[in-house]
Amino acid sequence: MKILILGSAAGGGFPQWNCHCENCAGVRNGTIKAQPRTQSSIAVSADGNNWVLINASPDIRQQINQSPQLWPQDQARGTNIRAAILSDSQIDHVTGLLTLREGLPLPVYCTDVVHEDLTTALPLFNVLRHWHGGLEFHAIGTDHQQGFSIEGISGLEFFPVHLESNAPPYSPYRDDVVPGNNIGLKIVDTTSGNYLFYAPGIVESTPLVESMLAFADCALVDGTLWLDDEMIAKGFSKKLGSEMGHMPVNGENGSVALLSKFDIKRKVLIHINNTNPILNEESDAHHYVVSNGVEIATDGMEITL
Ligand code: MLT
Ligand code: MN
Ligand code: ZN
Repeated sequence: MKILILGSAAGGGFPQWNCHCENCAGVRNGTIKAQPRTQSSIAVSADGNNWVLINASPDIRQQINQSPQLWPQDQARGTNIRAAILSDSQIDHVTGLLTLREGLPLPVYCTDVVHEDLTTALPLFNVLRHWHGGLEFHAIGTDHQQGFSIEGISGLEFFPVHLESNAPPYSPYRDDVVPGNNIGLKIVDTTSGNYLFYAPGIVESTPLVESMLAFADCALVDGTLWLDDEMIAKGFSKKLGSEMGHMPVNGENGSVALLSKFDIKRKVLIHINNTNPILNEESDAHHYVVSNGVEIATDGMEITL
């Protein structure tokens, strides 16, 4: 299986257009050692030709334009993206679907509650119906034992994994989540049996999450914030990371401590917010992550399992 990191930043990207924090100003001015990053999305493929997009970020046009893997070689118009899976209904994970309108129809796999958000509060399915058949909804469940496959994609099987997190601010499920508002994905290469566990938004670990990490060959997990109160301390928000549905990277309940419990070939942080000091490659926070055997995702990174 090939895993392509299209966007490794959280909502807003890095640098964020209106942000002049140490990191954003530093990367713009070249005064810190850091790489710019686009918003949260990956793609997976078994054969390198047929890809499944996992989340569609507002930066998808740029992401596709810088990823030759997704360009067909022999068509006047077309794409190597066969379908999309959505892990939630957050703006940074779904609004890229609008940019894909020229190439619809597109099969979209998501849970019923994500589909509900995307036909009511943020009605992308309704809007895009007017473009060549729009988004073709395929319902996925919330039972991690019930895998699904995708038409046109052989060699990969997908399992939804319930995650403790939050729903977006516009969702009726905000602060009142139900199974299906947030899923992670276990993605199995059916030839080798190897699997990726992808969880960009996760507020706390659970026995289910740990059972996924225990046998994963690659884990891409929430690296949004360094500290739970980072956005408050920097004066950018009144909300803790945990209220937004994210665990910190640092600390005993953080993502590095969680990953350290397991022997996983590739441990990678993804969905990194622009305020997070791990983005500065010369910071203590960055060194802490790397010295614990954890990688920090960058755009364009390709992992082969
Ligand atoms: C989140 O996951 O909390 C988001 O990145 C928020 C957003 O996209 O605005
Ligand atoms: Mn996000
Ligand atoms: Zn910033």
